Amino acid sequence: MKIVVLYGSKPSSNSRELVDTAVRLGHTVVDGPTGDVSSWVSNEGSRFWVGREEVTDADICFLRSYGGGSCEQITRRISLLEHMEFAGIKVINSSYPFRRARDKYATQYTLQVNGVPVPSTYTSESLARAYEMTTKMGEVIYKPILGSMGRGAMKFQDTDLAYNAYRTLDRLHHPLVIQKYVQNPGRDIRVFVVGGEVVGAVYKYLPEHSWKSNVAQGGRMVEESMSDEVLELGLRAAEVIELDYSGVDILEGPEGPVVLEVNASPGWQGIRRATGRDYAKMIVEYGVSQVE
Ligand SMILES: Nc1ncnc2c1ncn2[C@@H]1O[C@H](COP(=O)(O)OP(=O)(O)O)[C@@H](O)[C@H]1O
Ligand SMILES: [Mg+2]
Repeated sequence: MKIVVLYGSKPSSNSRELVDTAVRLGHTVVDGPTGDVSSWVSNEGSRFWVGREEVTDADICFLRSYGGGSCEQITRRISLLEHMEFAGIKVINSSYPFRRARDKYATQYTLQVNGVPVPSTYTSESLARAYEMTTKMGEVIYKPILGSMGRGAMKFQDTDLAYNAYRTLDRLHHPLVIQKYVQNPGRDIRVFVVGGEVVGAVYKYLPEHSWKSNVAQGGRMVEESMSDEVLELGLRAAEVIELDYSGVDILEGPEGPVVLEVNASPGWQGIRRATGRDYAKMIVEYGVSQVE
């Protein structure tokens, strides 16, 4: 098969592994930054190129990142991937679900309206209203709307510290996404889902001096047996966001498990170390099974 792998400006180790795995499994692979893809719309049909290489006849496109850029550039890239889908290329993960999962706000309301429990989350572009709400919410976390790896999220017990941070963020035109801090047992859960099946589930233990369990923040992944309730919640979250494969973050709160986020391009280095499974192979094989 002909497989395209798209990433941000440079391939991450996961993207590189997807490329290598697809080649090892006998496929033809073209890879590059999403921003390097050109497209053609005409009454004779659609065409696509990665750089100068034509990929109109690709079977699958693994989308790992839209890459950075202006609002206009990202708008074109979101449409580009949908255009590829309409033209018959299987895009994994699908363009709009991918966009939704990148956006922490959209993920939370989509989960919630579909009956998946989430932590209460307030969003605003008003500094005054965000401050007012923070005084009522207790301990809160500010999250960058497009954040990942725990970067940029801040926890506040003091509302005036929060105010000062919000003021700076507001000046930088960042929307204020503020979430209730959920008391937890010092760990959260990553459920890795491929094609409607749980293929890995691990606890992520908090590092000593942090409230973030991300591997990038020093969190430690350990494979231990897990309740069916948590595994089913992971499956349900992946299904609701309509992702072919995903990494679902779940926290065991005082009122039961809640879903923090659903990653549309989850890394698997940490979970592979913890479980010994070949996630790149599972993802490529799943993609191939969808177009055969
Ligand atoms: N509402 C919350 N209450 C308690 N801890 C949280 C909350 N939200 C996030 N965390 C912690 O921060 C980590 C990163 O948050 P997450 O929403 O998964 O964003 P990221 O995309 O940066 O991974 C989580 O894995 C968890 O350990
Ligand atoms: Mg996370």
